Amino acid sequence: MQVTVTQSQTRKPKPDETNLGFGTIFTDHMFNMDYSVEKGWHNPRIEPYGPMALDPSTMVLHYGQAVFEGLKAYRMDQGGIQLFRPLDNFKRLNRSSKMLCIAGHDAAFALDALKQLLTLEKDWVPSQPGTSLYIRPTIVATDPYLGVRASFTYRFFIILSPVGAYYPEGFNPIKIMVSKDHVRAVRGGVGEAKTPGNYAASLLAGDKAHDEGYTQVLWLDGVEQKYVEEVGSMNIFFVIDDEIITPMLSGSILAGITRNSVIQLAEHWGMNVTERKISIDEVMQAQASGKLTEIFGSGTAAVVSPVGELKYGDQVIPIGDGSVGPVAQRLFDAIQDIQYGKIEDPMGWIEPVI
Ligand code: COI
Repeated sequence: MQVTVTQSQTRKPKPDETNLGFGTIFTDHMFNMDYSVEKGWHNPRIEPYGPMALDPSTMVLHYGQAVFEGLKAYRMDQGGIQLFRPLDNFKRLNRSSKMLCIAGHDAAFALDALKQLLTLEKDWVPSQPGTSLYIRPTIVATDPYLGVRASFTYRFFIILSPVGAYYPEGFNPIKIMVSKDHVRAVRGGVGEAKTPGNYAASLLAGDKAHDEGYTQVLWLDGVEQKYVEEVGSMNIFFVIDDEIITPMLSGSILAGITRNSVIQLAEHWGMNVTERKISIDEVMQAQASGKLTEIFGSGTAAVVSPVGELKYGDQVIPIGDGSVGPVAQRLFDAIQDIQYGKIEDPMGWIEPVI
């Protein structure tokens, strides 16, 4: 399939790169492609970025049949642009699609289309330290129909947004609150799919956490509310007695690509990394006995994000000495250095664009 290109007649002014924030500015063009049962995926095209006209009965608006991804394009010092493990994102999009009964796509083709879009939008990839072009591939159900079933038609689109740090704190430690009243997902559900409903379901608990001065919610398992799962916008890691522990993939946790990169890098450095169940009680006890030295999250948007304080019920515990711990710092530096092409990529994760 050939991607047709219709260029925008106008170009938006580029934003101030020193003050980008996250997810508010969009580039001049986007990628679109349609699916029908008869034609499969067809009409791949790059077009001017703009609103989509949808019939009010469009299925995604009613039943949330949709999946998405998040990845970034990085500007190197020498000017080139590169991606970090992009095929893994499109493969995960396919796994999410399967869980939501959405038609699968050709991941290699999607990556090729993304590269064409990025080549056209290359001037939108910012160059200030810590900035990047966030990429949001999304697939939504488009049948105009109010019955509950899988749609027969879909729209696949990719939009681009120049971004800075995801959290207002930047790389400074964030405060997270363990949710006791709400659960995010249960095994057998769609917790490991990147689907909008998981994020909608997290909003109420997120608002409560914000009201108490916490940036994010740490979710416990949906059955016993005992084992740590993830933060919602990040996977989570604990450093206890020099062991790096992250909750094993249980079916209700997102299989983060940055999570996997953290595990692989730490193992590559000879660190002791374990994927296993970890209860919130174990975390609290490890802190009480002085063995818990670091907590940090990992995610595309957040990269590696240290946690400085944890609230669980009435207990508020500081993590480490409140500054960024050495493990989080080393991982953050190494992942960023690979992403921005500042060091040799020892893992084969980099995909050059231009
Ligand atoms: C990401 O890390 O890319 C995410 O999708 C998390 C969040 C911004 C929804």
